[in-house]
Amino acid sequence: MNISSKIFDISIINNVIIHEKTTSTNTLAKDYIMKGCVDGTLILAKEQTAGRGRMERSFSSPSGDGIYMSLVVKPDISPELVSQITLPIALSIVDAIGEIYNIPAKIKWPNDVLINSKKVSGILTEYKNGHVIIGVGINVNNKELPGELTSTATSLYLESGISHELYTLIESIFKYFDGYYKSFLSDNNLSSIQEAYNNCLISYGKEVYIIPHSRTVGSINPMLISTEDLSPYLCKGISSTGDLICIDSEGTAHSINSGEVSIRGLHGYAQ
Ligand code: BTN
Repeated sequence: MNISSKIFDISIINNVIIHEKTTSTNTLAKDYIMKGCVDGTLILAKEQTAGRGRMERSFSSPSGDGIYMSLVVKPDISPELVSQITLPIALSIVDAIGEIYNIPAKIKWPNDVLINSKKVSGILTEYKNGHVIIGVGINVNNKELPGELTSTATSLYLESGISHELYTLIESIFKYFDGYYKSFLSDNNLSSIQEAYNNCLISYGKEVYIIPHSRTVGSINPMLISTEDLSPYLCKGISSTGDLICIDSEGTAHSINSGEVSIRGLHGYAQ
């Protein structure tokens, strides 16, 4: 383990803890919270043996190729606003990929970042004792991915042919997040990023299925989840609270909360 107070010159990061190998940086973050870590503690691992995703999925975390990190923050907000923090970090990842790789990544609401309709990054936001844990996994320099993921996932190397130093990307992500997070805290909503987020939303203006979480839990391949009895909705983007606004076939608007459902495009995982 290596502790450094300032390897990134970004005001939101006050402490950086680096582990060679851990089960999950989000799980480790909970231990550090119980030990009283400071607001703005960033935990990084070179490898995770039990990386976790949403809906009880695992997150493949091989040694050295990817970014596996959890930022612990202690915002002065009510707990029901916590899940909104996932959206500015997703937008920050898209911005950083654009800046460093010049690739237009997209967001699959609320928490996946995609390139060419394949997942390159996932976010797992959790809450513990008044702290928010923002867990980010990114496939960066992976030259190949596990066979079961190749139809739905990719890496920045596979998309660009370029290997990058992981710290360059981490610094860029938090440079963007610093500004978005401060606006979120002062507005208590996502109005400042709503337009930019919708511009990156892969399903914007497209038809989607709304899938109950009970069908998605534990599924490794989202393409295999049955949608045969579901009706399509038209996606109109996010609201200022981060809900997805979807219009049904009768023209009625529904505000969809990410805690209840997943979204899938009609013509594949994302499209
Ligand atoms: C998802 O795909 O549903 C979210 C994946 C989140 C993975 C990151 S890697 C760092 C942090 N530690 C974890 O165990 N999960 C998150």
